Amino acid sequence: MRNLLLVPALLLGLLATAQPQSQLNLMPTPSSVQTGTGQLLIDRSFSVAVTGSHDASLDRGIQSFMAQLSAETGILFRSKPDAAKPALTIHADHGRQQIQKLGEDESYELTITASGAALTAPTPLGVVHGLQTFLQLVQASTNGFAVPVVTIKDQPRFPWRGLLIDVSRHFIPIDVMKRNLDGMAAVKMNVLHWHLSDDQGFRVESRQFPKLHGMGSEGLYYTQDQIRDFISYAHDRGIRVIPEFDMPGHSGSWFAGYPELASNPGTYNFEPGGPDSVTDPTQEATYKFLDKFIGEMAKLFPDAYFHIGGDEVNGKHWDANPKIQAFIHAHGMKNNQDLQAYFNQRLQKILTKYHKTMVGWDEILHPDLPKTIVVQSWRGQESLAAAARQGYSGLLSFGYYLDLMWPAARHYAVDPMSGAASSLGPEEKSRILGGEACMWAEWITPENIDSHIWPRNAVVAERLWSPQETKDVDSMYARLDAVSLHLERLGLTHRSAKLHMLHRMAGTAEITALRLLADVVEPIKDYTRWDDSKGPIDFHAPLNRLIDAVYPESDVARRFRDLVQKYVQSGFKDQAAETQIKTLLVAWRDNDAKLKPLLGQSFLLQEAVPLSENLAAVAGAGLQSLDYLDISQPSPDSWRTQQLTLLDQAKTRKADLLLMVVAPIQQLVEASGNPKKR
Ligand code: ACM
Repeated sequence: MRNLLLVPALLLGLLATAQPQSQLNLMPTPSSVQTGTGQLLIDRSFSVAVTGSHDASLDRGIQSFMAQLSAETGILFRSKPDAAKPALTIHADHGRQQIQKLGEDESYELTITASGAALTAPTPLGVVHGLQTFLQLVQASTNGFAVPVVTIKDQPRFPWRGLLIDVSRHFIPIDVMKRNLDGMAAVKMNVLHWHLSDDQGFRVESRQFPKLHGMGSEGLYYTQDQIRDFISYAHDRGIRVIPEFDMPGHSGSWFAGYPELASNPGTYNFEPGGPDSVTDPTQEATYKFLDKFIGEMAKLFPDAYFHIGGDEVNGKHWDANPKIQAFIHAHGMKNNQDLQAYFNQRLQKILTKYHKTMVGWDEILHPDLPKTIVVQSWRGQESLAAAARQGYSGLLSFGYYLDLMWPAARHYAVDPMSGAASSLGPEEKSRILGGEACMWAEWITPENIDSHIWPRNAVVAERLWSPQETKDVDSMYARLDAVSLHLERLGLTHRSAKLHMLHRMAGTAEITALRLLADVVEPIKDYTRWDDSKGPIDFHAPLNRLIDAVYPESDVARRFRDLVQKYVQSGFKDQAAETQIKTLLVAWRDNDAKLKPLLGQSFLLQEAVPLSENLAAVAGAGLQSLDYLDISQPSPDSWRTQQLTLLDQAKTRKADLLLMVVAPIQQLVEASGNPKKR
């Protein structure tokens, strides 16, 4: 019993990253920071005063700032603060646009001294960002909660810093969407790209065409009132909301109510729809429908930009329809790409009529389209450069797909100006507006969406806001740890949801051993889970397995890897590192015996048995390697061969999960063959 309680505390202590004092826990890193000495205490008398431009949105912003400051500190601030002695003075030179514009000034300056803080900005948009910086600076000190003395001058590198959330594959309720807006605001993202329709569901109430949401969803959609409220909530947080209605492909859900729009007439259901369903671009009725529909949606979504999708049209239904082939022929088109370009041109004219600028995935890039459109690159960085070269504005999403289960560092390494874009001239580069992280929802529910977006999305936010030179991965991870806790205090559930889910799987309160296992695994990567799901995905199947609960990136495994690296690089001399490695390996080796009974009693956990056994076995191999290294005796070749076979097997997926500590243990096993201390 004693051991059981001791182990998690020990492990947490061992793996805590020591935070260098000089580093502020800011993400994104501001463009200029001058640190000073001393701090401004935050106590119960803390209050805010506003001079300069002032509106209802700013008032609400300050209200939610105070609520967030309360969450950061636990202090219950007075509802009627002492206006005579404000601790923070806010000044915006002028008001902001009623409808937030791309490229509006988002800069701010935050000056904190030991006696007070001042936040100034050209517009309230900068104030919104500056308040979030202030919140990230709050820390417990020996004297109380405080922010450090500092002068920050800050502005974004790119004007378009977005997050796409797909609500078609799995519907995401509005409260979950709102807390994700809070998270976006915390890391200064300014575009929510709402993927509202796809084969698996049409998620917006249309009064013009009520069968769109009525038959194109299972009753899960947003009412127009909810959407207006959501857009206003986003506006208060400096976030533009851009709707995407994907067409002509990915539009199966439209055809459930309006099969006459389809290229392949027949009966449609909002699922599975199928990858081949595509709108018929050859009939005038399609454009009459779209004119009316876009007219309605253009009013509902006030942003100047409107996303029409345009991706993954495989053309099978166009090929199969003689009427469509005859149209292609009659209009002198060469192929389906030309037909899609024709569709996009017609669509573009409709959007222009409603004062909207078209955004689409990189497949829409075609010389027939005007240079005003925006191309969103998802298939590679080349398409972004190609678009910029041809005079189009562009956004990067390739490299920022959060559903691929990549570690934060891999997303962090991708820069909109790197790869093919690095050879662009200055004017071409200026056409790159920024980028968007993408949360596609094939394997996402309202319960686990936060942990699939956060905290990793914060590093994409930093990439798009901070100076290009902001690249240090160790600093990024150290700050990400702090930001992750901050985000949870703001109301996101990326950390707590895992615990709820593990408790549910286990059916017990005591889950220490299960957590130990869950903390060292990651879901299989890329689209392997999708590729392996034989046949179409059942979008109503519960997502309540271990793979659905664990984090896409294991912090424990990352820190263990760093520790092993440190030990190996020290020529096996770093005793402190070795002791920490040993403690972890012992806990992992002994975990299976504790976990087995629990795994056996839940249908959701039985699949994890081989995983748990492997963790014990590989930890044992690691411990034996350390024994050889301790006595400076090479491990026998036959023993190593045996262990490496075991490790190879343990590397393979079990229960669609990967055991992330195998590779560093393999490093120890290999090192044990040549243990000479240098
Ligand atoms: C996409 O991922 N099909 C845009």
